Amino acid sequence: MKRFREYRTNQEVRDHYADVKLSAENFIYPYFVVEGNSLKEEITTMPGVYRFSIDTLLADLSETKLLGINKIILFGVVDNAVKDEKGTAAYAPDSLIVRTIKAIKAVYPKLIVMTDVCLCEYTDHGHCGLLYGHEVDNDSTLSLLAEMAYQHALAGADFVAPSAMMDGQVEAIKYRLSLAGLPTKILAYSAKYASAFYGPFREAAQSAPSFGDRKSYQMDFRTKNQGLEEIAVDVEEEGADWTMVKPAMPYLDIIARATAKYPKVPMVAYQVSGEYAMLKNAGQAGLFNEKQAFFESLIAIRRAGANYIITYYAKEFVKLWIA
Ligand code: PBG
Repeated sequence: MKRFREYRTNQEVRDHYADVKLSAENFIYPYFVVEGNSLKEEITTMPGVYRFSIDTLLADLSETKLLGINKIILFGVVDNAVKDEKGTAAYAPDSLIVRTIKAIKAVYPKLIVMTDVCLCEYTDHGHCGLLYGHEVDNDSTLSLLAEMAYQHALAGADFVAPSAMMDGQVEAIKYRLSLAGLPTKILAYSAKYASAFYGPFREAAQSAPSFGDRKSYQMDFRTKNQGLEEIAVDVEEEGADWTMVKPAMPYLDIIARATAKYPKVPMVAYQVSGEYAMLKNAGQAGLFNEKQAFFESLIAIRRAGANYIITYYAKEFVKLWIA
């Protein structure tokens, strides 16, 4: 008889065999930025997550840095009044995100700053690309995404992360950045599924589509291999430096298969707003131990093969488990 229980005798023994580890460097912490001063407003659907103005974001970063988290990803939240059909505020040379990157880099030059590149937060219709009638037009969106990425790169972003799910977006951005001679890398949201789990984010970023849904560009989760095909094209043909699977927990199979196929390409998994809200709310309702549930979910994502995890829980995780 094989005595597996010898691996589990006591905490010390269990720790010895626990070969899946998470540290602060594995985390990418998301920030929502708004215009204004001294603002730090909690997002009702995501307890413990805030919208910051640039000044309060800078103050919060000192804590993030102290915890050893050295990567962040930025999302802009702009007033409806500045949104238009073409998402002009997304790629303006002095956009909210451009000013945020510059302010951060002036204080924390070594912090790895990533930015989300997508039009949905900036268009008055809340879709990720330009509309032609009621359809999102892939090819006319590409130059706008490339311009947005270029402005972020020029301001000092270390990574731009295209999340619009337009075909050719990585290539268009890569070309624009290389023409300009900018060193910014591309984290491709390659396998991004049309998911109910983005609900709380859309409330946080005020980016819900004003009609229809995102199923004509985000992936159908009823497909077995499309996620890997999307990753293959981004990595092998279009020039993505890092890749992503999103959401994380319901897609561990995709993370595992993709990292087995591309062991050298850094894999990011995004534990999205709905995953966070679900775990938080169940924890707060006393249905389970929140700290343990987050630990288990994040270790599972890492065990599947993710090198990095974007999670709203990053700071709390480090405070509770590492610091
Ligand atoms: C698009 C974008 C979304 C998220 C990240 N980037 C929303 C969407 O595609 O609907 C969702 C992230 C989350 O739910 O935490 N700019």
